[in-house]
This record gives sequence, structure tokens and C-alpha cells, in this order.
Amino acid sequence: MIPLQELLTRNRSWSEGERARDPEYFSRLVAQQTPEFMWVGCSDSRVPANEIIGLAPGEVFVHRNIANVVVHSDLNCLSTLQFAIDVLQVKHILVVGHYGCGGVKAAMLDTRMGLVDNWLRHVQDVRDHYRGWLRGIEDEDKRADRLCELNVIEQALNVCETTVMRDAWARGQEVAVHGWMYSLADGLVTELGADFYRESEVLDVYETAVQRVTAGNRTV
Ligand code: CO
Repeated sequence: MIPLQELLTRNRSWSEGERARDPEYFSRLVAQQTPEFMWVGCSDSRVPANEIIGLAPGEVFVHRNIANVVVHSDLNCLSTLQFAIDVLQVKHILVVGHYGCGGVKAAMLDTRMGLVDNWLRHVQDVRDHYRGWLRGIEDEDKRADRLCELNVIEQALNVCETTVMRDAWARGQEVAVHGWMYSLADGLVTELGADFYRESEVLDVYETAVQRVTAGNRTV
């Protein structure tokens, strides 16, 4: 186990290293944050947003929760989206799930873990929506991976359907929503073909992305 004090020591050396590399680094960050990207991902400790997509502090605005769920009554998520879209004017919102997501698997298998079961109920809604198709996938891990993909597409749709996104599109703001998957096994991100650029296309893009998953066109 890493002693707590060690974290503070590492923090000191990180700060020194950054300043040695670029003396203006922190003063620039203090002055402003102008990220073009927002990341909506899982809280899983193995899925660090900035590192995965090679972005420095200040370049990606992050919201994470268990199983990357976007719920229309979640004030935390909605506020983060609103701030990102209206104030920071991000250009892209990345909804990123990951294979091997413990939350999604627990939801799929009805594993009881406590309060979090209620949060994961949203993933179970996705599961139940596709239950006929999912039932046909014998291998448990493969079935969970397909549910991870469907969950991302569903949550990306939820972002599109917030008043925040719809208002932004209605006033002609250039902001898009994308559904991505991250693989813990090789560190690679793959696209789900769920790229939403305007409100009029939302349901078509959603249906096509779901069909791509359920038709088994994905090789992962
Ligand atoms: Co996860």
C-alpha cells in the first residue's frame, strides 16, 4: 500500500517537474480554462480521462460516475453539461464507456451491492430494453461488453435530449456528442458510430448505432 504521505511527496515532485518543463504552466492555467472537450465517463480508477486521450489539465472538462450514466434528473450531471456547453462552449462531448465495467456487469447480473443498485437501475433499463437480443449471447463477458456499448449509445442519446443540448443546437451552437468505448486490455478507444451533430439527426444516428451493435458488426 502507498503511504498517504507519499502522495504529497509525489505531488511536490510533479509540480516541480511541470514548472521546470514550462515555468508559465500553472499561471496560464490559473488565468483561464478553455477546454474544447467534455468527457462523460465511468468513475473506474483504470479509466483516467486526460491520460487516455493525451490531453493536459485545462483541455478536457470531466464528469464521471459509476457506469457513465446520464440521467435527466441528476442535477450534478446536468449542471456539468450546462456549464460545459453554455459557459465553456465545448465543441465535443465524449460519452465514454469501457469494456469490463464492473457497474454494467453488476447491473446485467442483478448483483446486489447496496445503494448503488438504484443508480445501476438505469443500466438495467437499457438491459431490459434489449433483453431478447442480449439473451442470445451465451458468453457472459461478451454479453456484458455488448451491454456496455448499448449503454454508451443510450447515455449519449440522453445527453442529446437534455434541454441544455437542445437549446444549444436550436441557437446554432456547434457542439457534438460522441459515443466511445475504451478497452482496459489495450488502452485503445474505439468509436461506436454514435456521433450526434444536430437535433434533426439524433434518432437516426441512435438507431443506426444500435443496429451496428446488435448486427454484430463490431469485432471487439
Ligand atoms: Co466502469
